[in-house]
Amino acid sequence: AVSGRLRGRRVLVTAGGTMERLDPVRYITNDSSGKMGFAIAEAARLMGAEVTVVAGRTTAAPPSGVALVKVESAQQMLEAVTELYDEMDIVVKAAAVADYRAASISGTKLKKDGERLTLALERTTDILETLGKRKKHQFLVGFAAETEQIERYAMDKLRRKHCDLIVANDVSADGAGFNGDTNIVSVYGEEGLIEAMPLLSKRETASRLLELVAERLPQFGGS
Ligand code: PMT
Repeated sequence: AVSGRLRGRRVLVTAGGTMERLDPVRYITNDSSGKMGFAIAEAARLMGAEVTVVAGRTTAAPPSGVALVKVESAQQMLEAVTELYDEMDIVVKAAAVADYRAASISGTKLKKDGERLTLALERTTDILETLGKRKKHQFLVGFAAETEQIERYAMDKLRRKHCDLIVANDVSADGAGFNGDTNIVSVYGEEGLIEAMPLLSKRETASRLLELVAERLPQFGGS
């Protein structure tokens, strides 16, 4: 529904998975299709927002009417997002960002010269945590992809990364998480559980989530 509740708000959404190169032809990635992030971007646009999407590797089609910035790695996503951050009112981090990348990227194709190959990985920068530390007026929404102790890890991420809301999905549940067209999410705020949504399309999940965001925004200009 076109509610206009986000009219005049600038919304940044991250979507998809990062790609961490190992060599010129190989990379580490994950199952994120971009559907959840794109659904949020589309719902925000329908609610009147001006939307920018920073997308990693995706298999779904991006929505129309939003600005799209394509990136590959976690580092590139960090740079794109931090550059846009100051001018944003709402930031939703639905992307599945790699926690580790190759300690060095081989300039030439890795050779198979042994029965085993050990890859040295190093931590990537946590984008959400970086944004949380630099937060001024922005309303920051993180995701938590968990398979156990959902509430505990979600609340831990909310506090550690200074988020206003955390959207937790149990990525081991049928119909939830990566790739499909549906999700099952629970939204947490500083006060704890705010809403446990049932199995819904990612579109419906997105618009309910943004209704929660809109309710919590500081008002401006009589909108
Ligand atoms: O794209 P789909 O196929 O539709 O799938 C949707 C989804 C399952 C990817 C999505 O709903 C989701 O859960 N996204 C977050 C996945 C994730 O990386 O979760 P996490 O618990 O590892 O990370 C927590 C938060 O920190 C996330 O907001 C993530 O974007 C952020 N993060 C993580 C690592 C990192 N280096 N930087 C980050 O900003």
